[in-house]
Amino acid sequence: MEFIELARKRQSVRHYKQGDVPTEDIELMIDAARLAPSGKNLQYWHFIVVKDDGLRRKIAQAISAENERISSLMDVKDKTKADRFRKFAKHFTLFFVDAPALVIVMSKQYEPSGYNEMQLADLDPSWLINEKNPGMQSLGAALEHFTLRAVDLGYGSCWITSANYADKAVQALLKETVDFDQQGYFMAALLSVGIPEDNPKSPPKKNLRDIMTIIE
Ligand SMILES: Cc1cc2nc3c(=O)[nH]c(=O)nc-3n(C[C@H](O)[C@H](O)[C@H](O)COP(=O)(O)O)c2cc1C
Repeated sequence: MEFIELARKRQSVRHYKQGDVPTEDIELMIDAARLAPSGKNLQYWHFIVVKDDGLRRKIAQAISAENERISSLMDVKDKTKADRFRKFAKHFTLFFVDAPALVIVMSKQYEPSGYNEMQLADLDPSWLINEKNPGMQSLGAALEHFTLRAVDLGYGSCWITSANYADKAVQALLKETVDFDQQGYFMAALLSVGIPEDNPKSPPKKNLRDIMTIIE
């Protein structure tokens, strides 16, 4: 497929047809992700592929429980916002449970250039980590490779970060079930993958003229 056609065809897919996504196809998607550029070529990514229905359900339950814990604390302050948060999780996070495959994307904190140098110079570099950290840009490049390769192979996917607040709960589950315990790694995103059930309607993109400035 032509690159621009691929880019246009990619959409967030939240409803999938029943049926397996062969592990070899997911490997091809991860193989494309692997080729992405990364700051200092550190490649701080690890992909955990969950095809097992039972584990996917347990992960959804762990996220749900964490959502409910936060929501019930919110209830006393603002019940409307708490209910909105519950509803959001239902529609924009937990749909992955019905996807044939889930990929848990683990990443690690990246120390940008200047971080260690500023520390040595007795300057506070914490804002470089917290506000301007390029680590997530590296991961974004890898995940975009993944999603485009998924389209190329006839699949759809959805990139999900709205469960990141449940990182610790999911990690505990992973440690218990698959003994994943890589030092310093945290859950940075989820990717649901499958054959699209429908043609989703993506929200509009900004116009080219509105997002660029050319100085000639
Ligand atoms: C970093 C990132 C995080 C996202 N998190 C979620 C999410 O948690 N749940 C969800 O349903 N969609 C999520 N999306 C998908 C966006 O909502 C979607 O890309 C956007 O609305 C544009 O639609 P399109 O992907 O169909 O073009 C995320 C996308 C990105 C890039």
